[in-house]
Amino acid sequence: MEKPLLISSSILSADMTRLGEQIREAQDAGVDWIHIDVIDGHFAPNITMGPFLVEACRSITTMPLDVHLMIERPERYIKMFSQAGANILTVHVEACPHVYHILEEIRALGCKVGVSLNPGTPADILMEVMHLVDLVLVMTVTPGFSGQKYNKNMEKKVVQIRRMLDDINPQALIEVDGGITSDTLPGIMNAGAQVFVAATAIFKNPAGIKAGVNALQASMHAGKEINRL
Ligand code: DX5
Ligand code: ZN
Repeated sequence: MEKPLLISSSILSADMTRLGEQIREAQDAGVDWIHIDVIDGHFAPNITMGPFLVEACRSITTMPLDVHLMIERPERYIKMFSQAGANILTVHVEACPHVYHILEEIRALGCKVGVSLNPGTPADILMEVMHLVDLVLVMTVTPGFSGQKYNKNMEKKVVQIRRMLDDINPQALIEVDGGITSDTLPGIMNAGAQVFVAATAIFKNPAGIKAGVNALQASMHAGKEINRL
C-alpha cells in the first residue's frame, strides 16, 4: 500500500510572539503535523520548549503534535508530554540506554512511537527495535538549531532503513529533519522518506508561510513524477 507523504512544520522557526496565528496559518496552508522540538541544553546545545508549550499548541489545533525529544533521560518526561497532548513521541537512540523499554512505554501511554538517529549514528543500531516503532526520524543535521545545512549523505541511511523496515515493519514511516527545502526534499523522498520536517522553509519563507508550504508540496509532487519516469 502506498504510504502518505506528509509535512511536519517545526515551530522552532515560528514567530513566538504570534505562535497561535502562525500555527493556524500553517494548518490553513495544508501542513499535516506540527513538529515541536524539545531541547534541554544537554543532549543538544539549545533550550527550547516543554510540556506547557505542547499543552498550549494542543488547545488551538487538532493537528497531530509530533514531539521530538532531544533530551537526556527522556523516560522522566514522556508521561508529562503525553498528558500535555502529544500524539507522536520521538526519542533519540543516543539518549536511551534502555531504548526497547522506553519505546514500549511510549506505546503504553497511547502515543505513536518514534525513534531518532543523529547523523553519526549507524542505521543498524535500530535492528532490535524496528518492530516497536511507528516512525524512524533520521536527522539530516546535527540536532540543536533550525537553519542548518542539509547533509546529503543521510540519503544512503534512509535507503538502508527503508529496506530494514520493509522487511520487519513495512507500515512504519521514515521522517527526515534538518535543512529540508524544496531543493533537498525530492532526493530524500526518493531515498524512501515519507514525512518532511521543515522550520526555516515554512516559517522563515520571505514570501510567507503559505508560499513555503506550497513550494514544499510542489517539490513533493515533482519528485514523485521523477520517481515514476
Ligand atoms: C533541529 C530540529 C529541527 C529544526 C529544523 O534540531 O530537530 O526540527 O527545527 O529546522 P530547519 O528546517 O530550519 O532545518
Ligand atoms: Zn526536530
